[in-house]
Order: sequence, then structure tokens, then C-alpha cells
Amino acid sequence: MEKLLKKALDMRQFSHAPHSHFRVGAALLTHDGTIFGGCNVESDVYGLTMCAERSAIFSAFSQGYRNFKALAVATSSNGTPCGACRQIIAELCGNIIVYTIDLKDNQSSYYAYNLLPHHFTLTSPTNLATSTKTNETAI
Ligand code: THU
Repeated sequence: MEKLLKKALDMRQFSHAPHSHFRVGAALLTHDGTIFGGCNVESDVYGLTMCAERSAIFSAFSQGYRNFKALAVATSSNGTPCGACRQIIAELCGNIIVYTIDLKDNQSSYYAYNLLPHHFTLTSPTNLATSTKTNETAI
């Protein structure tokens, strides 16, 4: 895990954060041991900003990877992923371990499903009941 945490810290150097000046690095460990890095990339159109965690996850997905073991996130505050990233982590990576680290080597770890219980999915029984035409009367 040291390697994964170091990669997340290293990825902060690529952060593009002219607005917040808050650098975030992420590193995603795949089932076969490959590590994908990510960093936050801000836009002048603030809502288009991409977080480091999603950057790493989408990068891995773009290379065909679908099975993951752990995600590390590095910030100056040992911060945890935002709500949007929690959805993507839980939905696309499953119940992986999420490590956080700061610049003084403070570390924490969480399970993805504890960071976001009951993440949204189209295929959950509840959502299926309200999204199919045949079940409209059940709404
Ligand atoms: N940010 C991340 O990269 N990950 C998170 O989970 C929360 C926030 C970024 C977005 C923005 O560039 C900066 O941190 C400040 O919100």
C-alpha cells in the first residue's frame, strides 16, 4: 500500500487548480497490480472541474480495466472523496478500500460502501420497480 499512497502523493504535482489552489492526487490499484494515477483538473467554467478520484477511475476504465482493489487519495488535509466521487467509486469499483493521506503522513482508510451507503444503481430492486413501464402502477 506504500506504493499506492506514494503514487497518490506524486500525482498532486500534475494537479491543475488555478481557482482553488487545492491539489488532489489519486491512485487506483487494479486487480492485476497495475496502478492508475489521477489529479484534479479545474476549468474556468467551475462546474466542469474533474476530481482526482474520478480522473483515475475513468483513466483505468478507458484502458479496459474493470476490477479494482484500492484507491488512495492525497490532499493537504487528509480529506475524503466528495459525494460525486463516492457515487462513482461505489458504483464502478465496488466496495474497495479507500485510503487517504496528507503531507504529514496522516492516513485513514474506509470501505467505499461506508463512505456512501445505498449508492445509486439502475439495477437495484427498488429502482427497477420505479423505472420500468410495466411497474408504473407501483409508483
Ligand atoms: N476535489 C477532488 O479532486 N476530489 C474530491 O473528492 C473533492 C474535491 C478537487 C476539486 C477541485 O479542483 C478542488 O478539489 C477543490 O474543490
